[in-house]
Amino acid sequence: MTDSETYPPISAQLDDVEGAREEGRRKMDWAFQHMPILTALREEFEAEKPFEGQRIGMAMHVEAKTANLVEVLAAGGAEVAITGCNPLSTHDDVSAALDAHDNITSYAKRGVEDDDYYAAIEAVIDHDPTVTVDDGMDMVAAIHEDHPELIDSIVGGCEETTTGVHRLRAMDEDGALNYPVFAVNDTPMKRLFDNVHGTGESSLATIAMTTNLSWAGKTVVVAGYGYCGKGVAKKAAGQNADVVVTEVEPRRALEAHMEGYDVMPMSEAAEVGDVFVTTTGNRDVITEEHFERMQDGVLLSNAGHFDIEVDLDALSDLAVDRYEARDGVEAYEMDDGRRLNVIAEGRLVNLAAPIALGHPVEVMDQSFGVQAVAVRELVENGESYDAGVHDVPDELDTEVAEIKLEAEGVEFDDLTAEQEEYMGSWQHGT
Ligand code: NAI
Repeated sequence: MTDSETYPPISAQLDDVEGAREEGRRKMDWAFQHMPILTALREEFEAEKPFEGQRIGMAMHVEAKTANLVEVLAAGGAEVAITGCNPLSTHDDVSAALDAHDNITSYAKRGVEDDDYYAAIEAVIDHDPTVTVDDGMDMVAAIHEDHPELIDSIVGGCEETTTGVHRLRAMDEDGALNYPVFAVNDTPMKRLFDNVHGTGESSLATIAMTTNLSWAGKTVVVAGYGYCGKGVAKKAAGQNADVVVTEVEPRRALEAHMEGYDVMPMSEAAEVGDVFVTTTGNRDVITEEHFERMQDGVLLSNAGHFDIEVDLDALSDLAVDRYEARDGVEAYEMDDGRRLNVIAEGRLVNLAAPIALGHPVEVMDQSFGVQAVAVRELVENGESYDAGVHDVPDELDTEVAEIKLEAEGVEFDDLTAEQEEYMGSWQHGT
């Protein structure tokens, strides 16, 4: 099934489509009850239909929260085609529930091989999107490489994650990005909550549930002390683990040190860690020299976007035996008898492990609230943005924060006119 012309939607790929749709809808309904921002935007979009005539092509983690974003965009009048952005993060039942919607086609299927993964992206592109929404930039890349003729009719795109924004910035610097894309990842409403709290909570919860092991008393090595690493470190410390941080950026290494974590090179951390969580977005963070020093029974996991942080090829080469120790845990046995356990094939653990649910619903409500208003901005004002990577306008991020605070019943202060004038002036000194 590798021909993009014929790659079928999920409904044509499942045996019990009705059963899957029902279960997917149940998951979506539960999540939606806890998504006040998307609820408010859905009301607005249903009334105003801002996306009438737009075709939105998406490559995202297809699970319940994302599905609610997709339906909110469709409620605003868009036709949406979606596929996964990781072969292991799709929930087939949710994908089937989405595909039942008149204005939505979902090609996402869990566990597809590379050929079908890319064929599904091609199938989305066959809908001639006018807006793209990516998590990792695979859709933007496929359009630029193989379908440049579509670019003139694309008003813009949105990118959800750090790795996607890095790739887009590199493309932009090369002069190769030919339509405007919002760096949704970089907004405060996304990054300070989703990357920090979302990744922290959901990675640790998934590892605990997948292994049935405790955090208390463990030494947890967090590679990378960026937004995600800060969340993982903080939540692990909160579960009574000893936290070790590895970094390559001096200020972030210092920040981790001042937070009270042990900071050391991976070559030393490899010897003391019980659990390893990579959050760097970089490749080859845990490699052969580290595997050789690790203790028997360690858990290896990755929370970064791509499965390149733990060098599984090198681990395979070292292993004399490999077996599934539990669902989602593969043991690699070394010739000296040590077992190194890899969770979720080294793919982003909080979404790709068999029982993974991704970030908490409330957190994704914020990230997807920003996505929804960013798509609205592109459709309404896309012509005022040049090709390239753009920050989401701050007032849109603030709008999302205000909806959330109102839903939570949290009141806060306003600046007085005098304060506003003072904050904007340079003449007031001592
Ligand atoms: P960030 O840029 O804030 O942090 C990455 C940190 O890793 C930086 O401080 C950098 O200096 C450090 N680093 C780079 N190479 C390193 C190495 N070899 N050893 C140690 N440290 C190294 O990025 P952020 O927002 O924390 O995202 C990290 C990754 O997580 C990205 O791939 C992003 O797409 C992904 N992500 C995953 C989520 C999930 O649900 N699992 C959610 C959000 C982001």
